[in-house]
Amino acid sequence: MKVLQERIRQDGLILSDTVLKVDSFLNHQVDTQLALEIGQEFARIFAGRPVTKVLTIEASGIQFAMAAGIALGVPFLYAKKKKAVTLSEQVYSAPVHSFTRQETYQVSLSQKYLGPGDKVIIVDDFLATGAALLGLVDIVEQAGAELVGVGCVIEKSFQEGRGLLEQRGVRVHSLARISSMSPGEINFIEDEPS
Ligand code: G4P
Ligand code: NA
Ligand code: NA
Repeated sequence: MKVLQERIRQDGLILSDTVLKVDSFLNHQVDTQLALEIGQEFARIFAGRPVTKVLTIEASGIQFAMAAGIALGVPFLYAKKKKAVTLSEQVYSAPVHSFTRQETYQVSLSQKYLGPGDKVIIVDDFLATGAALLGLVDIVEQAGAELVGVGCVIEKSFQEGRGLLEQRGVRVHSLARISSMSPGEINFIEDEPS
């Protein structure tokens, strides 16, 4: 997605060879118009496949899942990282190991909102190690729903996430794929034909 790549070049802050900050337009302050365009791009990518729900994980996947849900005309759901008292009903849950925080947490989703017959796309802001997304794939499987594919806004292609998802047979579409970066330089893999 050209406009996204250009925005990353212009406003992204490359903190190191592995960490990109996009706080000013994607995941702290959010450029709402860009978020809507990202949702439309996901809808275009998955057009022709029936989709009943968009699934993400709190917090920074929410705006893109909502935008995709709007563009597709379906609800979106977000899995929670902390067990809320109001989640006392039956939940699907999966462990996620966060490499940045060196801890494992549970993601959970009420069984009321996903089940057999649902056709799901999973959306998130970053694809890095893939840990969070693999947890969501687990939840879709527990629900007996069909996983149509995964859409990520930014993929760090030099990390293992895409490979791990593809090993599970998951189709991954990322709007900006970073092949390498270092302070002052960023390189993208050109858009896959879709
Ligand atoms: P992941 O690939 O499954 O996302 O897992 P990882 O443990 O590698 O990443 C931990 C968190 O850091 C994730 O957010 C992920 O989106 C985020 N992240 C990974 N690489 C980058 C990066 O280069 N820049 C930024 N800004 N974030 C990155 P999270 O724990 O799910 O938290 P939230 O922000 O969604 O609440
Ligand atoms: Na995220
Ligand atoms: Na994040």
